[in-house]
Amino acid sequence: MSAKSFLVAPSILSADFSKLGQEISAIEEAGADWVHVDVMDGHFVPNLTLGAPVVKSLRPVTKLPLDVHLMIDDPDRYVEDFLKAGADYITVHVESRGFSKELLQKIRSQGAKSGITLRPGTPLSDIEPFLSEVDLVLVMTVEPGFGGQSFMVDQVSKIEALSKWRKEHSLSYLIEVDGGVSDKTLSHLAEADVLVAGSYVFKNDYKQAIKSLKTLP
Ligand code: DX5
Ligand code: ZN
Repeated sequence: MSAKSFLVAPSILSADFSKLGQEISAIEEAGADWVHVDVMDGHFVPNLTLGAPVVKSLRPVTKLPLDVHLMIDDPDRYVEDFLKAGADYITVHVESRGFSKELLQKIRSQGAKSGITLRPGTPLSDIEPFLSEVDLVLVMTVEPGFGGQSFMVDQVSKIEALSKWRKEHSLSYLIEVDGGVSDKTLSHLAEADVLVAGSYVFKNDYKQAIKSLKTLP
């Protein structure tokens, strides 16, 4: 059997914001598969980051898919802006105010990939009704809001259940994991497809860190 391989999506939340374009070129050169962009509004989570104009300005910098993780209330109000800005994947929280199945359909109908995610305290049953509408399911293994937190091992059962559900229902969504991902936590992630890593990539040698997450030995 060949080794399990993952797509690696460095989270630019941990990058140097004074030179974001260069940071993205650097991770692309270092072997990143996607660029994970954390959008926070200071309401849904107690932190503020960036919006669609920044995504638009990053679009020409890289050929890699832009994987936009919306941690905002009223995503419906802003999703169009992110679509126009060139986002490839748009992931919305099931707990966000105004979340709906129609929102996921809108993302897909505009040619982007739709994603759904949930806070660690939210049961998987809350997203089950939407799993046939998405291209990506993001499992949060930290409380959304900040980089650099510890991996919550009690969330691993969600990854495994999502893999089982996908098989049983003949679906094809990708399973992405976000929060505290590093070479130390990789052994828990065998059933995932895409690994987001912020501090682990940006606080280490980019190439070595990305390479260490690409395969499960
Ligand atoms: C947290 C964000 C993550 C964050 C991960 O709300 O969704 O994408 O950047 O950072 P690390 O990898 O440092 O846990
Ligand atoms: Zn994220």
